[in-house]
Amino acid sequence: MHDFVRRNGRLYCEGVDLEKAVSEFGTPLFVYSRNTLTGHFLKLKDAFREIDPLICYSVKANSNLAILKTLVQEGAGLDIVSGGELFRALKSGCPPEKIVYASVGKTDREIEEAVAGKILFFNVESEPEMERIGLIARKYGRRVKIALRINPDVEAKTHKFITTGKITNKFGIDLDNAARIIRLRAKYRSLDICGLHMHIGSQITEGEPFLAAINKVAGFARSLSADADIRYLNIGGGLGIIYDRENPQTALAFSRKVLPVLKKSGFKIIMEPGRFICGNAGILVSRVIYVKRTPLKKFIIVDAGMNDLIRPALYGAFHRIEPLKSMRGGLERADVVGPICESGDFLAKDRELPRFKQGDCLAVMSAGAYGFSMSSNYNSRPRAAEIMVRGNHAVLIRRREDYADLVRNEIVV
Ligand code: LLP
Repeated sequence: MHDFVRRNGRLYCEGVDLEKAVSEFGTPLFVYSRNTLTGHFLKLKDAFREIDPLICYSVKANSNLAILKTLVQEGAGLDIVSGGELFRALKSGCPPEKIVYASVGKTDREIEEAVAGKILFFNVESEPEMERIGLIARKYGRRVKIALRINPDVEAKTHKFITTGKITNKFGIDLDNAARIIRLRAKYRSLDICGLHMHIGSQITEGEPFLAAINKVAGFARSLSADADIRYLNIGGGLGIIYDRENPQTALAFSRKVLPVLKKSGFKIIMEPGRFICGNAGILVSRVIYVKRTPLKKFIIVDAGMNDLIRPALYGAFHRIEPLKSMRGGLERADVVGPICESGDFLAKDRELPRFKQGDCLAVMSAGAYGFSMSSNYNSRPRAAEIMVRGNHAVLIRRREDYADLVRNEIVV
């Protein structure tokens, strides 16, 4: 469900006619619906209200400060993976005791900042990392909370680049080593091993892989001696959304599946959804520059490229393409491509699409997650503007970059 709806043939975000928004803010333009964003957060919160989990929105999915602030104001915590994300999280007003920090490669500086910032806990991915956090905690004279990220070795049934819970992946700690670390916990006097964490992948549309992983981790927790003092179970993110014809579990179906085992565990539950909250809350609007026909194909060349939305190029991901104004004249097969000098620069391939003309605008749907946050300046293209719609109003939440932004940090020698 989302708030991008067609009225009289025109695409709206909530009460805002997108053609009008484009004439004010230009293209390429990321447009977010505030109502969809908070709606998805509240849906998940509601589905799990029996256990009142801490829902830490995963900042990497879309890290715009206005998005973070909106969710934080609804009561969300934040899941971060870098010093930069910690900076954003604190700037958005998130209470530090609602911040959890994953990543296989936290640097000393990043650890120090998070220790000084008094976040809830680190999700720890290796023993060397534990040693570093332990050392830094000592330096600050603190006992720092950590959760062990368990690699449960389950198949998440998603794209191989976004599968993270197989034992061949770089993430987490296997069960045997986790058991050993917990047995040796007295060695880490400045660390309080208070939780277990898992995150098995992203865009997972079925409940089974989650259940298998949660069962494994909960079973592992039961096997620990009573004085291990584990209080938190962080089940990660990964809930899939509809891009095309997926039929993902709803928040309610997901909760029905996993609530019994979560309740039985007795732990405080933490979740880290990203895409589920913001994926369908955003679109990317782009304008057709040219329509080009070659002996074999038709290319719709638009002003957004793989630097704005890399998911199709990187994962072969599917995003629906919609005209801003409904069009007559039937459909025709075409590729939608950007201006970048790579054949991988496409937003859609071999699609039956309306007969877009030069100057028309189109919407690339479901671009709210891993859209802007994975964008770049490749080909020296200034990054797109972002707006947030609330009811009948659209506000700029990131101004379009200009050429000066491109060279801001460069030094001519
Ligand atoms: N927690 C951890 C530790 C994660 O690594 C991730 C995502 C999440 C939570 C949030 O996952 P979500 O609920 O959004 O699935 N760029 C890829 C997705 C990469 C996900 C990386 N980790 C894409 O565009 O599909």
